[in-house]
Amino acid sequence: MARIAYVNGQYLPIDAPAIQIEDRGFQFADGVYEVWLVRDGVFLDHPGHLARLKRSLGELRIELPMSDAALDVALRETLRRNRLGDALVYLQVTRGVARRDHAFPAKPVRPSIVITVRPAPRAPVAARAETGIAVITQDDIRWKRCDIKSISLLPNVLAKQAAREAGAFEAWLVNTAGEVTEGSSSNAWIVTGEGALVTRPAGNDILNGITRQRIIRIARAQGLRFEERAFTVEEALGAREAFISSATSMVMPVVSIDGRPVANGAPGSLAGALRESYEAGEEA
Ligand code: PDD
Repeated sequence: MARIAYVNGQYLPIDAPAIQIEDRGFQFADGVYEVWLVRDGVFLDHPGHLARLKRSLGELRIELPMSDAALDVALRETLRRNRLGDALVYLQVTRGVARRDHAFPAKPVRPSIVITVRPAPRAPVAARAETGIAVITQDDIRWKRCDIKSISLLPNVLAKQAAREAGAFEAWLVNTAGEVTEGSSSNAWIVTGEGALVTRPAGNDILNGITRQRIIRIARAQGLRFEERAFTVEEALGAREAFISSATSMVMPVVSIDGRPVANGAPGSLAGALRESYEAGEEA
């Protein structure tokens, strides 16, 4: 079945020539995005993703040209037209179309909105969680506003490609202090020898993952020991467990870093338990 995309109010085949050359998203990466995991037609953590979208747009002073209700209809209708129950839904909003000039258009233009959907079958992700993933480390060469979910993702693209070429699933980005900030498209976590769950505090140097926030709520509700602080690659290598979180992977155990095993090189039990809690809809 042909994939259908929402483009500025229309539902079109995904390969339709619907985006203009002078869209500022195309020329300047002047826009933001969100990704939802959909399970059985349900948009997981919908309010969180919507809130982060609004925040990202606000930071770039882009005004969403439709109400929350209308956006909701567009998201659901795009999903429906693609006839998928388990899916990833991608939403992109750019500043719009204007003659190329770095500064914002003098006369405001209508932001461009695109929604696409692709299948997200559960089995491959579940199988990956059984074996765990390898990560490599890469210098974090990104800008200082990683809290904005910007479509400007070149450093992330290069880091993920390096991981792919190294036979790893994700790249952990490391700052000049030797600390892991986050993954190229995920947040990074460890479990210490004392059993404390650790992830970096949300600041301008990471994207505050919606999955991350949900895991924190689960940890608090379950009375787990939780520390929001920086950790280094060395600490991760000596940790009891490591994992990543994102809408696409939920909770995914990390079993090696740069080819060196984390603990005994097998997925950790806390990561598995958190994954189950997440799947069961706890603290949603
Ligand atoms: N990526 N950090 C970065 C840099 C990300 O790109 C993502 C998500 C996350 C995790 O955020 P969340 O839990 O809200 O998915 C952290 C999405 C999935 C992507 O780019 O496809």
